[in-house]
Amino acid sequence: MKHYTVVGNWKMHLGPKEAAAYVKKLKTKIIDHPAVTVVLAPPFVDLATVGKTGHLKLGAQNLCATDEGAYTGEVSGPMLKEIVDYVIVGHSERRKHFHETDKVVGLKLAAAVRNGLIPILCVGENLHQREAGHSVRVVVDQLIAALANLTATDLKHLHVAYEPVWAIGTGRFAKPDEVTPVVSAIHHTIKELYNAKAADGVKILYGGSVDADDASAYLKVRYVNGVLVGGASLNAESFGGIVRAAQDRAIS
Ligand code: PGA
Repeated sequence: MKHYTVVGNWKMHLGPKEAAAYVKKLKTKIIDHPAVTVVLAPPFVDLATVGKTGHLKLGAQNLCATDEGAYTGEVSGPMLKEIVDYVIVGHSERRKHFHETDKVVGLKLAAAVRNGLIPILCVGENLHQREAGHSVRVVVDQLIAALANLTATDLKHLHVAYEPVWAIGTGRFAKPDEVTPVVSAIHHTIKELYNAKAADGVKILYGGSVDADDASAYLKVRYVNGVLVGGASLNAESFGGIVRAAQDRAIS
């Protein structure tokens, strides 16, 4: 049986009260999903509330590259390790609004690995780069830069999310055959940089306007092991629908 991972990235939406109502509702929407690991990545302030439910894996949306010190407003890997399993690294919104360079993303990825967190590294091209035919090159360059500090052993739990920036929160969909060459390049780049075993162990997710209706089409793409969901994860009903679609796809 195949196994998929479905990650909900709430971004900066839903406070603790809304989070409590959400998880209560989600419980009724996703009862049985043995073939799907479900991860919720809410804002930091919701982690305790969402964590109490017990039936979901928890993720953070960001971490500091440094483990401790005078960094006002930051949250470190060792702190997160006490409450979450997963952490999103290098999301395009962090690259854009918080000026995270490839180098910073590489340092954060190393911090996640060093602290035993499961990293979800995000890579993706913008519309201009896609239209110029540079999608694969841009994504491969981001990947190589992010992996600069890691050995093959460090890749053991790595997830890489291919998220074309032009398909994030825009309602504009990437066709599965537009996703195929990029995720294939991600897999083969890891194989070339490390080895086949390392590449086989890395889980590749797709993200960008994924909903319950199209999740299955992305999960069919070779090398795709799951989805990273933004907008549609904010509603327990639609997120539950994606989890069910993944479960159905896994057993089909
Ligand atoms: P979206 O966001 O599903 O709203 O496009 C995906 C993401 O940013 O992870």
